[in-house]
Amino acid sequence: MKFTVDATDETKSIRSLVAAPEFESGLEFFVNKLGFKIVMISPADNPNYAILNRDQFTIALDKSAKAQPLSIEIPIEDQSLIGTDLIGPNGTRVKYVPVIKRQNQVIDLHPIVHVSRISDTQWVHGRAGMSYRSLTGNHNEISVASQIRIEGSGKVADWVHYHDVSFQTLFCINGSAKLVYEDQGEPFMFKEGDCILQPPGIRHQVLESFDDLEVIEVTTPANHATFSDFNMELPNSTVARTRNFNGQQFTHDTPNSREPVTYKNSTSLTAYGTSIGEASGNQGWVNEIHGSVSEGTRLTPTSISPEKPLSFFLWFINQGSAQIEVEEREETVSSGDAICFPYGFLPSMEFFLVDHDSEFKVLEVAF
Ligand SMILES: [Fe+2]
Repeated sequence: MKFTVDATDETKSIRSLVAAPEFESGLEFFVNKLGFKIVMISPADNPNYAILNRDQFTIALDKSAKAQPLSIEIPIEDQSLIGTDLIGPNGTRVKYVPVIKRQNQVIDLHPIVHVSRISDTQWVHGRAGMSYRSLTGNHNEISVASQIRIEGSGKVADWVHYHDVSFQTLFCINGSAKLVYEDQGEPFMFKEGDCILQPPGIRHQVLESFDDLEVIEVTTPANHATFSDFNMELPNSTVARTRNFNGQQFTHDTPNSREPVTYKNSTSLTAYGTSIGEASGNQGWVNEIHGSVSEGTRLTPTSISPEKPLSFFLWFINQGSAQIEVEEREETVSSGDAICFPYGFLPSMEFFLVDHDSEFKVLEVAF
């Protein structure tokens, strides 16, 4: 026997089963209290089964079902309801949550300096064959800096996604990757020395990685949400390279576009500024700094301390070694080590570069 009426999409969709021994009060709760719509109900004279729908969520309310009570989250804009729970007549637990779940930020952390040594590094395995090493140690409540590595070469099991961030940058220190970004045209190669500003909300995907890819990634806030976008395929048909994404623009900065300038008042350091500053609406910056040592010149200590307070500061030693003096500590840092001010870098904090070799190269990220 075949049904005589066509089923609607809702009646064909997957759904959660809700036991409703008190059918009438259960129905009243979902319809009047929670705003569900009745898609189907039967029988008309003494109903005991209904399919209800709200947004893309469908439930089957069944008087005779034996099922555990349901827990549902309802995202709302109205802040006053957040934190209030509701329990329905059939045990249904309703939790009101913010539309975007943000972690409460700890804002009152005392500024510190953190030194990460490559020698005592712990690599943690993440998604899609990526290994992570934290450059901020455990001090990642506000912002996070990581060294990310994918061994070998091959396709990356990534998908189109985007991040709810206020500042996020990537710098390639080894190997390369094929990346694709929303509105930026065909996939391109992200190579050693290249830097990207990933504006908030831009859809992107890592397609392939080559030759032991290594990337330094800096993100704030540390606890941010990542969303999948199953409706977008990349590359998409629109090309709009100057598009504004929440006040920022995408940029892919390459070493040959950088102009050398003297770093601060140093006699031996040259800074190669990237376009990250401009693209981020001056929220932050990324510099590559090279040290040169000519014979007979005595290096004078360079103060790295900022003129204005910064929220975050990172030096990642890419090559060579250096002697630094930081908060009355003397440290020797070499390739793979990082110095970080994860809770802010104040002008009163002392950080001097005392000496360095001719190989010295450092990546500076600040905001
Ligand atoms: Fe991403």
